[in-house]
Amino acid sequence: MREDKREGIVEESKVFKPGAEFKARALVREEKVYEEAARDRIGFWGQAAERLDWFKPWDKVLEWDPPFAQWYVGGKLNASYNCLDRHLTSWRRNKAAIIFEGEYGDSRVLTYQDLYREVNQFANVLKSLGVNKGDRVTIYLPMIPEAAIAMLACARIGAPHSVVFGGFSAEALRDRLIDAKAKVLITSDGSFRRGSVVPLKENADSALAGSDSVEHVVVVQRTGTEVNMKEGRDLWYHEQMQKAALECQAEEMDAEDMLFILYTSGTTGKPKGVVHTTGGYMVGVSTTHEWIFDLKEEDVYWCTADVGWITGHSYIVYGPLANGATVLMYEGTPDYPAKDRFWEIIEKYRVTILYTAPTAIRTFMKWGPSYPESHDLSSLRLLGSVGEPINPEAWMWYYKHIGQERCPIVDTWWQTETGMIMMTPLPALTALKPGSCTVPFPGVKVEVVDHDGRPVAKGSDGYLVVREPWPAMLRTVYGDQNRYVNTYWSNWPGIYFTGDGARWDEDGYFWVLGRVDDVINVSGHRIGTAEVESALVDHPSVAEAACIGKSHEVKGQAVAAFVTLKEGVDVGNGLMDELKAHVAKKIGALARPDDIFFTPELPKTRSGKIMRRLLRDIAEGRALGDTTTLADASVVQALRDK
Ligand code: PRX
Repeated sequence: MREDKREGIVEESKVFKPGAEFKARALVREEKVYEEAARDRIGFWGQAAERLDWFKPWDKVLEWDPPFAQWYVGGKLNASYNCLDRHLTSWRRNKAAIIFEGEYGDSRVLTYQDLYREVNQFANVLKSLGVNKGDRVTIYLPMIPEAAIAMLACARIGAPHSVVFGGFSAEALRDRLIDAKAKVLITSDGSFRRGSVVPLKENADSALAGSDSVEHVVVVQRTGTEVNMKEGRDLWYHEQMQKAALECQAEEMDAEDMLFILYTSGTTGKPKGVVHTTGGYMVGVSTTHEWIFDLKEEDVYWCTADVGWITGHSYIVYGPLANGATVLMYEGTPDYPAKDRFWEIIEKYRVTILYTAPTAIRTFMKWGPSYPESHDLSSLRLLGSVGEPINPEAWMWYYKHIGQERCPIVDTWWQTETGMIMMTPLPALTALKPGSCTVPFPGVKVEVVDHDGRPVAKGSDGYLVVREPWPAMLRTVYGDQNRYVNTYWSNWPGIYFTGDGARWDEDGYFWVLGRVDDVINVSGHRIGTAEVESALVDHPSVAEAACIGKSHEVKGQAVAAFVTLKEGVDVGNGLMDELKAHVAKKIGALARPDDIFFTPELPKTRSGKIMRRLLRDIAEGRALGDTTTLADASVVQALRDK
């Protein structure tokens, strides 16, 4: 342990400034990057793109026909080539690319050479199954190296992947398979979760019952669980890999060719397939990853997200591997076999950078500091936060007990749609205010605006928007261009609406306040109220349902549901639990409501719109706001009396 705890950071009246030692060693330490990028945004992103290996350089950095952007027009490259091949010509080929820690303590290290070989082989497997450039492949896997291998193999042959989080239910998987018209599904026999096995293959089998596009299922053996293998359709990963040739040339992709689809919740019951393309996305994620995490060759970088979310795509797979980083990948949960698992892992691998979520930090707070204190965390030098606003109390706890008052914290704001981090400190340049994601990344123009799309004055609240296109921006919603235009670009022409509310403070710092649309952020994961509502009304006893996000000490927000039952249905004893289980079955455990309130009627406006604001007040036991537009005031009275 170092003597001077303050070398990384210095506190000055509630603002935390980069320490001299951190600054001296940092990658980006010149203030002028901000001004230069602001003066010539296109030039900035043009220069940034030179960090990648291109088969053919681009003719033009940006073609902007709002709301449609093309970045690096005419450029040709391959994402897998950039994450693998180009590292093989230097000493990096023997560097650890992925250090895998399994839930039960098994460990596996893949060097860049190893990862290259496995990705090439699996790309050949996919080809042998008839997967061609442009065909979609769905990946439903646990947090094991094969998830990254599968993604990179798809990228190698130009087949867009759609990764579905392993915690999603069979039905959620089915919807996503159908929407993407996937040709191949990659899954595993199961996934370990706190010592038991989640039956992924079984879920996959029931999902497949309703989708007819999938020709083959490749099954990775992880748990050793017995599974049904359908003759002619299902194949074992390890058997196919044995037969596969070692080399598969990376397909030459256009900068604007689709790299992947990732489904996210919106304000309707149907998840949106957010489409990301190759060139801009790779430039965005690799630049931000290197600059924000101050990446050094010797770092052991650990992002605790699941590959099923955008954080896993951008900051476990594509960004770090394009940068030749050593990425730690952990399969399990923070409390298995004990509540010190994260700290044990950090000590075991001497992790230097930790990127996690506020909900995890609040959980650790609840468990108390004795768990991190029982391990040597002195290897850590930088901490990150993502997924939801971090409350200042959690920030301070993270700073003190994990960073040991030594590590800067980068609170990174971004979205599935933005692809890359948009607001964040640069650790050697930005003074930190606990709870604020600070300022936009160089070359990114974010603003807080009022109803009319006009920037608010410093010190005011408003809607968070992105003013100018950025390289890793989504290009469309898969198969639904109208939805892309209407959801993101219709409030104010040419301006991207994030769905978040924010405050722009006196110093020009941004404070994200949370969603202003009907999206709930549960433990950093987005859930549309409409999705939970449609899962509830799918139950035979339910007539109508309305869901809201309710503040929750650990999860940030939890789902609360107001349910009206069909005529003659009795609440009885088990109905509440049954409905909660029904939602978990339809969507996944993350959407399970914490509370269900039964009510004979829902509070609605005279035009029939459910008054969610009132429901929020009721769920949180607050004084009721304005009820003058309510059609029938007695409904609220009845709800309050419960
Ligand atoms: O509300 C914001 C919140 O998460 C939303 C995006 O969710 P998703 O697409 O699932 O991506 C999560 C991981 C990037 C945003 O609209 N959010 C994300 N990061 C932060 C945040 N809110 C406040 N501070 C953050 N750092």
